[in-house]
Amino acid sequence: MKVIDINPYTVLKTGFFCKRGKKDCEGYQKKLKWLEARFAEGMRIKMLNPSEGGRGFIEYIPGEYAWRPVYAEGYMFIHCLWVAGESKGKGYASQLLEDCLTDASHRGMNGLAMVTSESDWLVSKRFLFGEGFESMDQAPPTFELLVNRFNRAPAPSFPKNWDERLRRLGDGLTIVRTDQCPYVDEGAQAALDAAKELGLRTRVVELKSCREVREYAPSPYGVFSIVLNGRLLSYHYLSKKDLLPRMQEALRFENSMRRPRRKSRAAASPAKPRRRRQSPSPRKK
Ligand SMILES: CC(C)(COP(=O)(O)OP(=O)(O)OC[C@H]1O[C@@H](n2cnc3c(N)ncnc32)[C@H](O)[C@@H]1OP(=O)(O)O)[C@@H](O)C(=O)NCCC(=O)NCCS
Repeated sequence: MKVIDINPYTVLKTGFFCKRGKKDCEGYQKKLKWLEARFAEGMRIKMLNPSEGGRGFIEYIPGEYAWRPVYAEGYMFIHCLWVAGESKGKGYASQLLEDCLTDASHRGMNGLAMVTSESDWLVSKRFLFGEGFESMDQAPPTFELLVNRFNRAPAPSFPKNWDERLRRLGDGLTIVRTDQCPYVDEGAQAALDAAKELGLRTRVVELKSCREVREYAPSPYGVFSIVLNGRLLSYHYLSKKDLLPRMQEALRFENSMRRPRRKSRAAASPAKPRRRRQSPSPRKK
């Protein structure tokens, strides 16, 4: 299978993998614009040749420019690796990784790094273990930072203040977004629609640089987060139908956590309101 190099000169002709069939949609156009600046920072995308029926790609960038909240200077950072449909199980992901590895080695990097998750929308760590990667750091709930090291340079790491990042977003539903992924637009709209149905206060925070992602993103995926009252609901696209029960469950959980506290406060005060002491009746002389 031929692998196509997508770069600033070819991108308009070849397109990139996600939403290739819907080039007019807002998410695709936003990513196209986002890519212009990324290519200058050393980003590369390699895509399985669609004319041969290939369905898959890898997107990577030097770690200092990664749109993930990671400290990975000197490492090549893989944003996305996706092999889909009939292309799966034929060794293509290994082939794309091998191409990335060769490129990183030619560019004098210390190794390759990638965020994994045991939930959806990212590769699982088990796949990367089989490709020579090791786990270097973890973040809640199921994220891990996997690295294939070429030398003994200091390993990449995650920030540690996830709770603080979530708390900073305050109450209500917050969508933290970027233009890195063409599915973000639909994901954000679905979350806003679901929140509206539940009468929740909403706001959208747009992260506009890799530095902002590194400092403020409330989840290791970095480029999209749905946060409800300081809790991460999802880091990837979910339909309104899938989101509504998650939101309702999160709200029910919060209420159940509040109730006992109210009860105990009530228990601490006497059941009946204390009667005001009546002023003593004037003594009869
Ligand atoms: C994981 C993934 C990349 C594998 O792609 P693939 O082309 O089918 O993988 P390959 O055929 O190159 O397999 C290479 C090896 O990994 C193994 N492997 C594949 N998927 C695996 C998995 N999920 N867990 C563990 N091992 C896996 C294969 O068995 C094979 O092992 P072998 O060399 O011993 O035979 C692909 O399934 C995928 O894209 N998953 C979704 C990832 C995602 O959500 N991306 C988000 C988009 S940004």
